[in-house]
Amino acid sequence: MITFNQKTRIFHLSTSQMSYVMQVLPSGHLTHLYWGDELKDAALDYLITEIKRASYVADTDGIKEFKLERLPIEYPAYGNSDLRKPAFVLEHADGSNISDFRYVDFEIQPKLLKPNNLPSLVDEKGETLIITLIDNVKQLKMQQYYGLNHQTAALVRFVTIENIGIESIQISELSSACVQIDNTNQQLLHFSGGWAREMQFQQSELTQNGQIIESLRGQSSHEHQPFIALADSQFNENYGEIRAMSLIYSGDFRASVTMEMHDALRMQIGLNPAQFSWRLEAGEKFETPAALLVYAKNGLHEMGQIFRTSHQRFLVRGNHQWQERPILINSWEAFYFDLEEARLLDFAKESADLGIELFVLDDGWFGRRDNASSSLGDWQVNLRKFPNGLGSFSQKIKAMGLKFGLWVEPEMISPDSLLYQQHPEWVLGTPGRQHSLSRDQWVLDLTNPDVCDYLVETFMTIFKEAGVDYVKWDFNRSLTEIGSQFLPKFRQRETAHRYILGLYDVVERLTSAFPDVLFENCAGGGGRFDAGLTYYMPQTWTSDDTDAIERLSIQEGTSMLYPSASMGCHVSASPNHQNGRLTSLKTRGIVAMQGNFGYELDILALTIEEKEIIRQQIKFYKQIRQTIQFGELYRLKTAQRENAKAWLYVSADFQEVVVSYVQILSRANTPSKRLCLTGIDSDCYYQIAGTDVIRRGDELMQIGLAINDVKHDFFAQTWYLIRQSENKKRN
Ligand code: GLA
Repeated sequence: MITFNQKTRIFHLSTSQMSYVMQVLPSGHLTHLYWGDELKDAALDYLITEIKRASYVADTDGIKEFKLERLPIEYPAYGNSDLRKPAFVLEHADGSNISDFRYVDFEIQPKLLKPNNLPSLVDEKGETLIITLIDNVKQLKMQQYYGLNHQTAALVRFVTIENIGIESIQISELSSACVQIDNTNQQLLHFSGGWAREMQFQQSELTQNGQIIESLRGQSSHEHQPFIALADSQFNENYGEIRAMSLIYSGDFRASVTMEMHDALRMQIGLNPAQFSWRLEAGEKFETPAALLVYAKNGLHEMGQIFRTSHQRFLVRGNHQWQERPILINSWEAFYFDLEEARLLDFAKESADLGIELFVLDDGWFGRRDNASSSLGDWQVNLRKFPNGLGSFSQKIKAMGLKFGLWVEPEMISPDSLLYQQHPEWVLGTPGRQHSLSRDQWVLDLTNPDVCDYLVETFMTIFKEAGVDYVKWDFNRSLTEIGSQFLPKFRQRETAHRYILGLYDVVERLTSAFPDVLFENCAGGGGRFDAGLTYYMPQTWTSDDTDAIERLSIQEGTSMLYPSASMGCHVSASPNHQNGRLTSLKTRGIVAMQGNFGYELDILALTIEEKEIIRQQIKFYKQIRQTIQFGELYRLKTAQRENAKAWLYVSADFQEVVVSYVQILSRANTPSKRLCLTGIDSDCYYQIAGTDVIRRGDELMQIGLAINDVKHDFFAQTWYLIRQSENKKRN
């Protein structure tokens, strides 16, 4: 519910799990009073007057002791007596960059609103508070949007600035959200990593000089997830308050937390000002990407649950949202660029026979693409590899009962391509500067509408002709020397953001033209695994690292924010191609079954025994698929901490439970070899599938399942439990 108390001018946004409270001061400044567990009344008008802090800066509005620096300003401006980090900076026509926005009025809309041209949660049952503020001197209107999703207790924030004056301004910095939090012994949480090492969960102490989590790569990046959180320093899986923010955006971002001299914390997230500036002409309006704010009262599990549910229920859209994802086989780690129709058909035939449902033709099928050095942009099938064309190949695949999937990397252009000969001006980059190559490729200038139209037309034709059921949309380099040959001089610093707007326009048009096609997002693995692209494409290739052991932390981190149905996980060859590690097919299977499952190895080269293991894995995954993809995830405590990981999925109807355990290194004389479950019903009985064993829920939670005693590294075990009906208890 969203309420406004006319007398105290307090806004209260509340759900049964969360309250967010703000107050408009007599001066018109909007202050932040509270964000935390639900308050029934939120009559917090005493809070501001009770603030006792020293301040060394001037009084505001000539009122004695009215010092902005002491106050928890909701969305602080630059250029006044609040000398802490501002949430936005505007440059005016007179060269000054001072802003002063005061409250005018508000409205409440009975649904969750989103920015017009950017992705965000969609919920007809939500509510949105829009607070309008004006800078009278410069004739600028600011609107703060607070969308409340009652069903998940998540808050969606974004900001618009409208130029209602006559002179243009320059937006130098504009956060999507900013909150002030009292530092009651907080820690910073975030995810960092690199290529093949994405989403490593991090926690660190706060320092007074502030911390920044950011990307300047023109993509949300492998390095940092657009996410930041503050947690009670005692937090764990089920304890401690956490306040988190993520950005529903796929380009550069900056998230920061700063600690002021009295220890109050300011946490912000938004576009990265280092690579952003925007000319706003008279009459124009600018909207920021949306930020998702999540408050969890009880630790990491609850935070993850709110993010996963918000993403799966309110961000993912379309026909595939609740559809079980097919088990796939991908040609990449099997053959790389060495594609040959006859061999691929044998490979597909064998896959279909094992129970695989989708065949994905990865990189190498077009132009003269025998390695990564050419042909991006030349999206014609290579007739040497596929003599009868792609349509004919796809038909043969479908005749085997498989669906057909295709890899594309639309945003790229190779110097060695016909497209580059025709359109050298379509390469993204600053005129007069070198355009650095990465993986022998440049990026197309998606700020140019002609390029966007060309991409939509080209891929409409390809998807139609090839009769695709699935598309893997890749993006294999960062943006460098960012600039555009299309944009005028004064808009060069808009390039990075306009690029993402162009990308969203292209994927919106293509995904809506092919509602039955399953789109998978990829950027050299998880380089753009973000909420922005999850809005358009319901699943993402989690990482190029397919080693089962390294995947443990990558998948654990990813699954803290994203639903399992969105997380692509494949069984690949051993020795693993990224790190040379040898693991059993069983361990690789159990780890890959944490998300939407597939294979990426040459199954023609496997032994009969190995194929039989795969056949059984596929059969098993089909049984548990609904539970894994759309059930609830719990991480389990293991006696061996970092040497073992365990997780559990409960189906949405609570009838089925899948438990998985992986021990990394073998150890002599290890502690307890039992695994205690969580998230199940203590009063019910569960049968361990494939055995006669029936155990009561309370025993499974307090005493646990026995883990096999083995003497080798990289051991994995899985259990499938089925809840028993009331009368069918233990004999
Ligand atoms: C990226 C992807 C891989 C594969 C290659 C093809 O690295 O993440 O899965 O598709 O590109 O070039």
